[in-house]
Amino acid sequence: MNSLQGKKILLAMSGGIAAFKVAELARSLIQEGAEVQVAMSDAATHFMTPVTMQALTGKPVYISQWDARIPNNMAHIELSRQADVILIAPASADLMAKIALGLADDLISTICLARECPLIVVPAMNKQMWDNSATQRNVAQLQKDSVSVLGPTSGSQACGENGMGRMLEAHQILEGVIAFFQPKVLQGKKVLITAGPTYEAIDPVRGITNKSSGKMGFAIAQAALEAGANVELIAGPCHLDTPLEFAGKITRTNITSAEEMHAAVMSKLDCDVFFSVAAVADWRIKNISAEKIKKSSSGSPSLEFEMNADILAEVAKVSQTKKKPYCVGFAAETNDLERHTQEKRAKKNVPMLVANIGPSTFGLDENELLIIEDGKSSKLAKSDKLNLSRQLISLISKKI
Ligand code: CTP
Repeated sequence: MNSLQGKKILLAMSGGIAAFKVAELARSLIQEGAEVQVAMSDAATHFMTPVTMQALTGKPVYISQWDARIPNNMAHIELSRQADVILIAPASADLMAKIALGLADDLISTICLARECPLIVVPAMNKQMWDNSATQRNVAQLQKDSVSVLGPTSGSQACGENGMGRMLEAHQILEGVIAFFQPKVLQGKKVLITAGPTYEAIDPVRGITNKSSGKMGFAIAQAALEAGANVELIAGPCHLDTPLEFAGKITRTNITSAEEMHAAVMSKLDCDVFFSVAAVADWRIKNISAEKIKKSSSGSPSLEFEMNADILAEVAKVSQTKKKPYCVGFAAETNDLERHTQEKRAKKNVPMLVANIGPSTFGLDENELLIIEDGKSSKLAKSDKLNLSRQLISLISKKI
């Protein structure tokens, strides 16, 4: 993918052992199409050599504001003017303190003060330094000044301790940067999403579920978050990490059964868009056994079923009276795709129903979609689920 095609990124490195991850980061930013210019503090050069970063980016690395290679000798102005974003990784406690205060006594702090473009910082430090109230104060100030802060995360640290302050991995920083550049078409909107399968217990060890992996719903959650929305994700049993978890803006509720999903959705209906992506069980077992059902020679156990609520149809009913949320359903069919999807859309009374085209896409990373609206249909060509989700979000943002 070329998600960062043509973007100019000034990658500024301050001192910290996490600098080793930035070599990989520079490479992956370039692979996504970005132009990367590296600037390093003196301290950073003790952890990673400028030669390494120059070889990876194919551009000379800047370390001093007095660098005579810049014709007008104003490296700080030149470098910040050429960038679409400044990305500081690793961002030390010291550098974040300087930026929060507006100090400018070396190349990177001066570039930041002189910048006209947005700034992303990726903190990396020992846990006591991160927990220190001065650092917390500085991070809060940076956020107030519209600086994006990616991470840190918790884990084992180079100093031998364990805790908060560890820099994100290169692939997570890349995801954060790509997210940063997505159009903010749902800024300030609330999006509610159900994803994954549900599980209906038969006894304490057995149950009925389905093949949904949750990938499509989780991809929509990521795309909605990237678009600036506040996202509520209600997930059935699946093993997926919450997307962009380090950004901390998706609220996730894990449920097991359709009844639990129904209750969770109804308690969070105050939203602008509802994506009903989950494969919800239509029936639950009425006579759940409190004990494990034993094999018996007298025949197979008899299960009694009762109907679960149709969550999407219920939300659609509410939305008619309160005029929100905009409801989007999903359908997987085995035959007569367009006809079944049109009928389902009308029956559930939702403005949009999205159907998977082709054979089962459960568990796959790619999909092809048929979008059914009142009296019209359109297709989204085969692509990975995140890319399709971004297209869907863009489409829906024009309808609300
Ligand atoms: N859905 C729901 N609650 C249910 C069943 C389905 O919210 N109890 C939602 C799904 O999340 C999906 C849409 O309805 O967005 C279509 O689901 P699907 O399983 O394809 O359709 P059903 O209504 O269950 O109809 P059928 O199983 O007969 O095809």
